[in-house]
Amino acid sequence: MLPTIAREGDAVVMIDQRKLPAQELYVRCKTAAEVARAIRTMVIRGAPAIGVAAAMGLALGMRRSTATGTQKFAAEFQKSCDLMAATRPTAVNLFWAIERMKRSFASGVHAGESVDQIKDRLDREADMIHDEDVASCRAMGAFGAAVVPADARILTHCNAGALATAGYGTALGVIRGAVEQGKRVAVFADETRPFLQGARLTAWELVRDGIQTTVITDNMSGALMRQKKVDLVIVGADRIAANGDTANKIGTYGVAVLAREHQIPFYVAAPLSTIDLKTPDGAHIPIEERNAREVTHVGGSQIAPDGALIWNPAFDVTPHEYIAGIITERGIFRAPYVDTLKRAFEERALART
Ligand code: MRU
Repeated sequence: MLPTIAREGDAVVMIDQRKLPAQELYVRCKTAAEVARAIRTMVIRGAPAIGVAAAMGLALGMRRSTATGTQKFAAEFQKSCDLMAATRPTAVNLFWAIERMKRSFASGVHAGESVDQIKDRLDREADMIHDEDVASCRAMGAFGAAVVPADARILTHCNAGALATAGYGTALGVIRGAVEQGKRVAVFADETRPFLQGARLTAWELVRDGIQTTVITDNMSGALMRQKKVDLVIVGADRIAANGDTANKIGTYGVAVLAREHQIPFYVAAPLSTIDLKTPDGAHIPIEERNAREVTHVGGSQIAPDGALIWNPAFDVTPHEYIAGIITERGIFRAPYVDTLKRAFEERALART
């Protein structure tokens, strides 16, 4: 298993995903601000991993606080939460993790705990968020493997693997789950311009696992499908609205449209922490726009002329009609998502009482 992110003494350590696959470097963050910068600059990325990083960053920041009274401690905590929340707007796991840490903090205050006790509970909450993500990936892998044929050629977009989670991935978790069940799987990885998560990260992970992987550029998937070389598409998600509309890496929507045209099932794999029932549909999902340089430059070389306008949205939204099923740690949900997703949360709440 890849050590994507870990708490190590007085630091949060993460593999630098900007440098892969050429270099395996680790970044040691010693403050909440350093963790926030790591999220913003894509040292760590992928919705569940961002959530885990934010939680660990908050715990780390508060551990280092010198405040002795709860009031000052709470003010510092709020500042760190605001800092984390301002890093990236689309992946809802970030806000979900911050909310969980806030709830834990509030319970500590409510119970009259000391600053040191609250520090301990924040560490525990961050570890729990991490461990739950590991377990969710496993469960998604086991449920999702059911939709993978015995001999499958699977197309994926971006990186929804171990590097994007604390565990063995969402979309890649399903692929790994299928392989564990003895299925023969060959993967096509879209290179995923402009940040190249598919070519750099997905291919790196899968090759290390010995899973056959073919990298294609983003404009090749249509031809590949037309030649009947894809049986299934599985992608991850950054935010799934209440009606099933799904924000994922830019280019996902195009893949979904192509899959539908070629009658290829298109699945989304994501934990419940990626589902945002408060957002009614895809039109309400905030889409991050990133620096123009990601588009104008490749590997440091300029490929577009000065003066050209640049549009660089990091995500797009795939309407729910294109999605054959949403694979979660609680099973596979199908349309009508507005009902099935709501029920999933109700059943989970019931199971917890
Ligand atoms: O910009 P990124 O690299 O954070 O975008 C990541 C994706 O779009 C992933 O597909 C998504 O977060 C799911 S990761 C399990």
